Amino acid sequence: MKLNLCILCLASIAFYWVISAAADGTSSIKPIDKNTSLEEARIALGAAPLIHHMDAFDAELAVVGEQLIIQGKANYKEFKGKRISSYFVCTDCHNLGLETLELTSVSQQDRLDYAVQNKIPFLPGSTLFGVYNRTSFYNDDYDKKYGNLVFGARDSLRNAIQLCAEYCASGRTLLDWELEAMMHYFKREELTLKDLQLTTDEMDLVSTASNKTAKIKDAALSVLNDHYVTAYRAHFPGAMNENKRTYGATGNALNGKKIYESSCMFCHGNARVTYLNLENDVLSGSFLWNNKEGYGDKSIYQVIRWGTYPIAGRKQYMPLYTTEKLTDGQIEDLLAYIKQLANK
Ligand code: HEC
Ligand code: HEC
Repeated sequence: MKLNLCILCLASIAFYWVISAAADGTSSIKPIDKNTSLEEARIALGAAPLIHHMDAFDAELAVVGEQLIIQGKANYKEFKGKRISSYFVCTDCHNLGLETLELTSVSQQDRLDYAVQNKIPFLPGSTLFGVYNRTSFYNDDYDKKYGNLVFGARDSLRNAIQLCAEYCASGRTLLDWELEAMMHYFKREELTLKDLQLTTDEMDLVSTASNKTAKIKDAALSVLNDHYVTAYRAHFPGAMNENKRTYGATGNALNGKKIYESSCMFCHGNARVTYLNLENDVLSGSFLWNNKEGYGDKSIYQVIRWGTYPIAGRKQYMPLYTTEKLTDGQIEDLLAYIKQLANK
């Protein structure tokens, strides 16, 4: 009798345990709301996970990753960090936050105005904000610059980071923990539905679609796809032909000043990452104005579209601006400002 009672009580404990586990199971399917990560929402709607999908997240490692990106080196546990590059940190060429009011805007002028208003630099590299959610890197013409190297990096965020550390930053191969730390930082900063700027109707559709028909889920997924950039396009048109240049005659000097100050001077001011010092003065203006013709490295038309290349013994180089980052019209704006600066 005593034994029977005990079995009964064990059985009821087991029963309770199974029930509560089941209850936990259902409550762990979180409802989709503004704070849901984009990746989580996409998976709930039936999309395949990203190639670099990360299940686990380590907040401590993310802080180390942030340090590596901004300061160029960090310590972690027993590892003493060494500089990734003697010449650059990642934020010399990439911002880490939003670059346009609308997440999907790829307008060069929107990006310039946003940079000036928010006092952030206007850079040749794309922002790393939301990079975790992208599916393709170094797109289009970047194979002209990096050849076969880009093929392994196009669909893999880990390889894209590694390529940039070694080649764009003229640095070294990242150690495993450094690469993982950066990945955890990007995971921490991944897009959430609030970043996507959805309308109330769109948010309603997305938040209720996960237990509806495949057709409704697909509709919700395509709403999400329309609200962020999965790949930044990149085209290299080469230096503007001499017979097309107006040397600033068609440009707006006020707009050119914005480019000069928030882009060129970010690197060249106080000769920060290069020997070439560019200031808001007649000396710098005259140097650029006097070299504007032809296709030499010192001509603005040339250097903007080709950048310069790292050479042995001199590994700092200038990254080029794609048409997606700077238009030919904006180059003329810059020339109009340089002309003014040079008192010509
Ligand atoms: C000297 C400039 C420069 C430096 C320094 C630099 N990058 Fe880049 N990076 C670029 C350019 C240019 C691209 C080309 C694609 C783009 O950003 O539009 C790029 C691309 C990338 C991409 C792919 C982005 C995309 O959407 O195609 C990642 C990721 C990246 N860099 C990470 C890093 C990290 C991490 C560091 C620091 C270790 C770093 N970069 C340092 C210039 C630079
Ligand atoms: C990401 C940093 C960066 C930005 C932004 C940048 N530059 Fe450069 N630039 C460099 C580096 C590095 C060099 C290579 C010079 C060296 O060897 O130190 C260079 C080289 C040059 C040269 C060639 C110098 C020579 O002697 O051949 C010119 C001209 C130039 N930049 C103008 C500009 C102008 C104009 C802008 C703005 C549209 C600009 N740069 C934006 C980093 C930058």
